[in-house]
Amino acid sequence: MAEANRQIVLDRLPAGDKLAREHFKLIETPAPSPGEGEVLLRTRYISLDAANRAWMQGATYRSALEGGQVMAGGALAEVVESNVGHLAPGDMIFADTGWQDYAVLPGQRLAKLPAARLAEGEPVTHLMSVYGIAGLTAYFGLLECGQPKAGETVVVSAAAGSVGSIVGQIARIKGCRVVGIAGGAEKGRWLVDELGFDAAVDYKSPEFKRLLRAEVPDGVDVYFDNTGGAVFEAVLFAMKNFGRIACCGALSQYDGAPPPHGPRGIPGLIVTKRLTLRGFVVMDFDDQREKALADLQGWVASGQLKVQEDIVEGLENTPAALIGLLAGDNRGKRMVKVR
Ligand SMILES: NC(=O)c1ccc[n+]([C@@H]2O[C@H](COP(=O)([O-])OP(=O)(O)OC[C@H]3O[C@@H](n4cnc5c(N)ncnc54)[C@H](OP(=O)(O)O)[C@@H]3O)[C@@H](O)[C@H]2O)c1
Repeated sequence: MAEANRQIVLDRLPAGDKLAREHFKLIETPAPSPGEGEVLLRTRYISLDAANRAWMQGATYRSALEGGQVMAGGALAEVVESNVGHLAPGDMIFADTGWQDYAVLPGQRLAKLPAARLAEGEPVTHLMSVYGIAGLTAYFGLLECGQPKAGETVVVSAAAGSVGSIVGQIARIKGCRVVGIAGGAEKGRWLVDELGFDAAVDYKSPEFKRLLRAEVPDGVDVYFDNTGGAVFEAVLFAMKNFGRIACCGALSQYDGAPPPHGPRGIPGLIVTKRLTLRGFVVMDFDDQREKALADLQGWVASGQLKVQEDIVEGLENTPAALIGLLAGDNRGKRMVKVR
């Protein structure tokens, strides 16, 4: 394999700063060759996730990133050479390839993505958005942790993002009234007009708390929290007695200096309102994946669930695409088409 391997290295950790282009550098190395039991992969679409930034802050459900390593991240990748029996050139997989053209990984834990999951004409990228981590996180977080019932009010933050846009639509499918929280009036209009949310509230407005209360006059039954921080606090005060909060992520705290204090109302409101807060990681529900994927496929096929993808071109643009995601540039699932 004579071709060069472009790699984006996390040159140094941002520490308490906002993530910037200078934290990354692009280098070229010779493309690697697979050894015994290994597979050579060519990355096609790199997944951009808010979690990429969280991994720079310390250990989470995976070990912390360090300066000098190829930036970690998942990707839809194609098998180029295989030294394992269950994978062959041309197979598509999802793997932690990092931000680079080629990766060599042990083949043992890699599984071919089932093309049969895609309906006629459905793009392969759906395997990474609606049938990937974003779709499954939305599905399990809402239905298992939130336990919504028809007629209830569901609120979701980062509602125009990859997880949030699916959460709101599933809640509508389940017969709930859905209020999305997102930055700016334009995103709010898109949530209501295109995705069928009942209402949207701009958390960047100085009137945010009042606007939120106006949209949930009887209170909130289920809150799907992607952000933590001030948005979490505002919804906490609007929760109904016996409400459920699915704690999915803490976007407000990934990029930049840590907040000066935590949300008010903890634990007092959790006690007096008898709330249930449940944190989860999507992998907790691996044993229910097939049922979830069948439901998601059915909703996409029937047109009840719209898949919004935000595709940036070019490996070299991956750092800017992540910085932009953290600043709210994306609608739906952001990814980078490598070439
Ligand atoms: N628990 C799990 O297993 C699991 C799995 C996957 C993802 N997650 C979590 O899911 C959440 C969504 O991640 P994603 O990768 O899908 O990202 P995303 O929602 O596609 O993109 C991030 C969005 O967050 C919004 N945002 C940024 N800073 C914010 C702030 N300070 N307050 C409120 N909103 C802010 C931005 O939109 P605006 O324009 O609206 O600001 C941005 O578009 C993250 O918390 C992530 O960690 C959890």
